[in-house]
Amino acid sequence: MKAINKLWMLALLIAMPAVAIASGAEVHLDKAPVNLKDQVSLQRGAKLFTSRCLACHSASYMRYNRLKDVGMTEEQIKKDLELPEDVKLGSTMQAAMDANSAKLAYGVAPPDLSVIARSRSADWLYTYLRSFYVDNTRSTGWNNTIFDKVGMPHVLSDMQGEQTLKVESHEGHETRKLELTTPGSMKPAEYDSAVADLTNFLVFMGEPAKLVRYDLGLIVLGFLSLLFVLVYALKKEIWKDIH
Ligand code: HEC
Repeated sequence: MKAINKLWMLALLIAMPAVAIASGAEVHLDKAPVNLKDQVSLQRGAKLFTSRCLACHSASYMRYNRLKDVGMTEEQIKKDLELPEDVKLGSTMQAAMDANSAKLAYGVAPPDLSVIARSRSADWLYTYLRSFYVDNTRSTGWNNTIFDKVGMPHVLSDMQGEQTLKVESHEGHETRKLELTTPGSMKPAEYDSAVADLTNFLVFMGEPAKLVRYDLGLIVLGFLSLLFVLVYALKKEIWKDIH
């Protein structure tokens, strides 16, 4: 009885990530250390996002005052994020650059990032923001191993430094490696951790209700297992006289 219940739970747990895997491309993605319970990380991510990404991207579903959910006071939101006087706490995060000028400058309009973690996944974002390399054939001077010919320049290169792509061929098998050729203001581990914070924030932004849904998920799973036990007992009861 117990074993069957466990098996059933296992099948359910296995089926869920399979859906996510099926939608991904065949590139190697690094695992993003996302932790939505880490408020300090989310706050650091929010600061990076507003100071480095809002120049071009909007987050039209995200209001500044929602940052109270990650433990920031109104004062902190205004001061730490250096909000201009005319920006209200209740307003959504709008790009400084309008979409048309951005399109002229980069060839593609920078997409809204409100739900980017849902369309691209946390691992993709974490890998993407660490995979820019110098490419002088591009007008921006940058390319990206998981987003070939990307229109976005490496806006965090002062922190990460400059990477160069090294392609090695072994018996027809090509390996592509990124090498840090000019160091930035951060050590690689520090940069990874800053990008982890930023990714964490992008995930939070795409799904602020996730903070609550963790517990809801457990309740639902608990309910389903209880239902299973009851239905199984009922089945035994019904069939016991028939055999
Ligand atoms: C200078 C303008 C600019 C800044 C600043 C900028 N981006 Fe971009 N970003 C772009 C452009 C342009 C694209 C579209 C690239 C393309 O489709 O080729 C883009 C694309 C992206 C994408 C891929 C979207 C997709 O699914 O196609 C992500 C993710 C992204 N940016 C994240 C960020 C983050 C996070 C930051 C802050 C660290 C940031 N960007 C800062 C210009 C910018």
